[in-house]
Order: sequence, then structure tokens, then C-alpha cells
Amino acid sequence: MASLSSPSIPAFAALRERLSGQPARWLVTGSAGFIGSHLLESLLKLGQTVVSVDNFATGHHRNIEEVRALVTPEQWLRHRFIEADICDLDACREACRGIDLVLHQAALGSVPRSLANPLATNAANVDGFLNLLVAARDAGVKRFVYAASSSTYGDHPALPKVEDRIGRPLSPYAVTKLVNELYAEVFARCYAFPSIGLRYFNVFGVRQDPQGAYAAVIPRWTRALLLGEPVTVNGDGESSRDFCFVDNAVQANLLAAMTDDPAALNQVYNVAVDHRTTLNRLFAILRDELSDFRPQVRSVQPAYADFRPGDVRHSQADISKARKLLGYLPSHRLEEGVKAAMPWYISRFAATDGVPA
Ligand SMILES: NC(=O)c1ccc[n+]([C@@H]2O[C@H](COP(=O)([O-])OP(=O)(O)OC[C@H]3O[C@@H](n4cnc5c(N)ncnc54)[C@H](O)[C@@H]3O)[C@@H](O)[C@H]2O)c1
Repeated sequence: MASLSSPSIPAFAALRERLSGQPARWLVTGSAGFIGSHLLESLLKLGQTVVSVDNFATGHHRNIEEVRALVTPEQWLRHRFIEADICDLDACREACRGIDLVLHQAALGSVPRSLANPLATNAANVDGFLNLLVAARDAGVKRFVYAASSSTYGDHPALPKVEDRIGRPLSPYAVTKLVNELYAEVFARCYAFPSIGLRYFNVFGVRQDPQGAYAAVIPRWTRALLLGEPVTVNGDGESSRDFCFVDNAVQANLLAAMTDDPAALNQVYNVAVDHRTTLNRLFAILRDELSDFRPQVRSVQPAYADFRPGDVRHSQADISKARKLLGYLPSHRLEEGVKAAMPWYISRFAATDGVPA
């Protein structure tokens, strides 16, 4: 594959230009989380007006503070934060008031979390989703873009994954994300309410939480390598994923929110790179990248544990639908995203955990 680090991305460049000249009112849910905070940052930098919502279930005040530090004071004045739970319908109605475009990210992620507590995952991801959908419809929102998930492919064996061929869900989390798609489809059919679902595949980048039992693999391993803690691979390390840098996910959200093509509406799209990397290879990439900073990392070997229940073996996205209908073209492959994200993790652990800079 040719390098994606400095491509011209015509649709996205045109969109950014269009947005700068035509500010809209956006709602971002989950703005204290990883992907939501990047959407907030990008929109504010584009001069947009943003209401954002989070209940800090898994998100952090520090993410919002970091966004504040990255935008100008004038841009920050265009943001209003509401601390609320999307399970509260009145709060959703308040958040949707006067909004043109919704980017709905708030949910409880993680397959293992959903296996441990399916009720909590269902409440946030299904009840909360439906509340927001109803509130957005009633408020006359023009477009509802929501975070769907590659977990919806479940046990379907085909690779790469194509949007209209899904299997049976393998976890409560996957059920919730499938239900989101079904509700969005029914709202389009019954109420002519336009939405677009983005099936993210293993998104990673700056501000993704490295801590806690349910941390994603890239921040978890990065933290462990930087702190000299053991790295554990679930399974034999030959499971593979289509790791998607967060800038690619931001691009897909903005393209989906702004498309004028009626054929692009009421659809779901894969959002990734169309490239599969095994966990063993991922470990080697992270180790190489971090060993410049911390030479002891060079000799670290991972430990291998059991496969985790609910995990799919391989995952890779066919992104031709998003490319064709939205003009999506990923700007970063895994290695490029890792390079872009690592300085943040390094500075964070150097500052808070005493790792020498
Ligand atoms: N990161 C990935 O690889 C990935 C992959 C597929 C799908 N997704 C989906 O993308 C979205 C964002 O994921 P993320 O990685 O940024 O996770 P995250 O945990 O960093 O962010 C989610 C945010 O939603 C908030 N939230 C949770 N429940 C809430 C509730 N009831 N009310 C209000 N806020 C609530 C959390 O506090 C958090 O700030 C989620 O919907 C997730 O399911 C993520």
C-alpha cells in the first residue's frame, strides 16, 4: 500500500473549507472520552459551535481540559458542556435543543465489561441511544451520526468485512451495537429521521485511556512497556485487527455529518484502513517505537494467556463503501498513527509515573 501519511484527501479538504465558512451547531456525546474529545477538538478548531455531554462513566475531566488547552479562547467560548447521563431523556432533550448535527459517541465500550455487567452496557448503549434518537428527532436535528462497531460482524467468517454481511453477535456489547443500527434504520423508515452509523474497528490514538481493567490493547501495552510492567497477549498473538488511528474516525464523522448525497444517508459504514495486523506484530511495532525512548523495552517479551471469551479471531474492514459514498480516505495507517500517538503517552507517563524523559 502506498504511504498514507501525506495524501491529498479531496473530499475531506473540501469539507473542512466548507465548514469554516458555514458554522453549524453540533452535539457531541461522550466528549470526555477518547473519540468524543477528538471530535470536540476538531469541531472547535473549525470554528463550529458545540454542545457536548458526558457523565464521566469512563471519560475524564482531563480530556476536556486538554481540548481547552489545544483551542483558542475564542474557539473555547463556542463550547457548552453538559454533565449528564444519556439515560435521562430530559437531559437528552436539553442537549439537543437548537442542534443541527449530532455525533453520538457516548456508550460503555469493551466486550469484557459487557460480559461482566450486561445491564449497565445495555442501559447506556441501548436505552441511552434510544433516548438520544428520540430527543434528536423531536428537536428537528438534521443528521444523526453514531458510533457503531465492528463487533456487529460477530461470528461471520468473511474477510475483509463488508457492511451487509454480518454474523451472530458474540457478546452483550455486540448486541447493543447491532440494536443501535436497527433503531436507526427503523427511525429512518418510520419517521424519515436521517442517520449514519460508523462501524469503528479498534480505534486508537492520543487520550485513549491506558488504565483500568477494560483498557484497549494499544494504550494498555504502551503503558506497561513504559512502566516496565508485564505485557500479556490474550491467545497466541496471531489474532488480527484493523487498527484505526483516531484522525481517520474524525474524518469519517465529519464526512458523514455533512454529506449531501441522499444515497449516503441511512447507511452504516466500516471505518478503518483495510489492513490487518496481528497482535504479535503490533507488539513489535510498539516495542520498536518505544525503545528509542526507553532502551530497556527492546528486550521485553510478552506473556501469553488464554483467549478472551467474546473476542473475534480476525478483523479487517472493506472500506470501499465509505470511500465511494462519503469520500473517506484514511490519512494514517497503524505505524503512522503509533508514531503520532506515542509522544503523548511518553510525556504522560514521564510526568505522572516517574519514567525518565
Ligand atoms: N475505541 C474503539 O476502538 C471503538 C470501536 C468500536 C466502537 N466504539 C464506540 O465509539 C464510541 C466512543 O468510544 P471511545 O473509545 O471514545 O470510548 P470512551 O469510553 O473513551 O468514551 C465514551 C464516553 O461516553 C461516556 N458515557 C458512557 N456512558 C454514558 C452515559 N450513560 N451518559 C453520558 N455519557 C456516557 C463516557 O464517560 C466516555 O467519556 C463508543 O460508542 C464505543 O462503543 C469505539
